[in-house]
Formats: sequence, structure tokens, C-alpha cells
Amino acid sequence: MIEIKQATLTDIPALLGLINSYAKGGIMLPRTEFEMAENIRDFMVAIDTEAGGRLVGCGALHFYTSSAGEIRSLAVEPGLKTRGIGKMLVQALEQEAVMHELESLFAFTYVDGFFRKMGFEEVDRGELPLKAWKDCLRCPKFQACDEIAMLKRLKIRAISPTFEPSEQRNPPAPELVHLPQLPLIR
Ligand SMILES: CC(C)(COP(=O)(O)OP(=O)(O)OC[C@H]1O[C@@H](n2cnc3c(N)ncnc32)[C@H](O)[C@@H]1OP(=O)(O)O)[C@@H](O)C(=O)NCCC(=O)NCCS
Repeated sequence: MIEIKQATLTDIPALLGLINSYAKGGIMLPRTEFEMAENIRDFMVAIDTEAGGRLVGCGALHFYTSSAGEIRSLAVEPGLKTRGIGKMLVQALEQEAVMHELESLFAFTYVDGFFRKMGFEEVDRGELPLKAWKDCLRCPKFQACDEIAMLKRLKIRAISPTFEPSEQRNPPAPELVHLPQLPLIR
């Protein structure tokens, strides 16, 4: 059985093994032990309880502003892909984002098909300039980034006090939220 839980410092060696094996193929950004320790509270891990609690997946929710967060370092052990573990991780991270009242979640990815299934839509990279300021500057692919920017809006309009059962069947459309804009680096 797969269990999703908050990562702890003892997960770091297994997290580094998983993330950096994908990083070698250029699919993910490499991480160091120092970075992992600093950001461990961002991470959820997928544990195979029938395999002695082995770590088989991970993902992180990183806050950018008080209303926007990024899903990053999402990975599932190669032999266990397409069994729903990635979806479980994204759902858990999204639940956490909603708990913190974030309005939007974004991701930079090569697996846009997966994120579309999770309810994200492709956006112009220019709509997410905060990422460029915070991370991209130190990325080896900064000048030639080919990752796809994906966004999911989370905030749902509050249900009116005169709530009718029919509204439950047809929930209000998600409100549009505006991400803070900073000048793009050229
Ligand atoms: C991306 C990744 C995390 C997905 O995890 P997973 O456990 O294989 O995905 P799931 O089984 O939960 O898939 C959920 C849905 O997405 C679909 N899906 C999974 N990978 C997909 C892909 N690459 N393209 C399109 N759809 C995909 C599944 O078919 C499934 O659809 P369904 O709900 O209709 O059955 C995993 O493939 C991975 O670790 N990839 C390498 C690292 C990586 O690219 N990480 C992303 C960094 S942003």
C-alpha cells in the first residue's frame, strides 16, 4: 500500500537518490543535501508500506507569495510510474495549498500531459515571472529553457448563505486570480 506523508530529515538520502537520478537525465533540477535540509518541510513523500516503508515518490509545495505556490521536485520511482502515485502526491500537495488559502499553483515541467490531468493549464512563461527571479537565474538552462509553464487556479467563490442544493450540483466557476507581476529578466 502507498502512503503519503510529510517528509522528515531522515528521508533526505532517499530523496536525493530519487531526484538526482532523474536530474542526471536532465529531467529535473539536481538538489544537494543542504538544499534538501533547508526545504524539507516543503516535501511530501510516498511510502510503500509493503516494502518496508521504502520511499517511492516525492513532491514539494514551495510558497512564492501569500497567494501562489509551486509544485516542484515531483518524482516517482521509474518502475512504479503510472500507478497513481504521482496523482496522490499532487492531490496531497494541493490539499496543503488549499489549507494555506493559496489562490494558484504552478509548475514548470516536461510532463504537461500529467499536469493537464491534474487540472493545470498551460500558460505563457511570462505570466510567472517570480520563478525567473527566484530560481531560473541559477539554472543551467536559463537561456534556453524548454520547460512548459502550467497553472492551476484554486480559489473557489464562497457559497452564499442562501445555498440551494442545485448550486451544489453546479458549483460556481473558479474565480480568476492575478499573480503579482515583476519585470522579466532579459
Ligand atoms: C510525472 C510523474 C511524477 C507522474 O507520476 P505517475 O505516478 O507516473 O502518474 P500517475 O500514475 O499518478 O498518473 C496520473 C494520470 O496522469 C497520466 N500520466 C502520467 N504520466 C503522464 C505523462 N507523462 N503524460 C501524460 N499523462 C500522464 C496517467 O495516465 C494518469 O491518468 P488517468 O488518471 O487518466 O489514469 C512521473 O512520471 C515521474 O516521476 N516522472 C519523472 C520525473 C518528472 O518528470 N517529474 C516532473 C517534474 S515537474
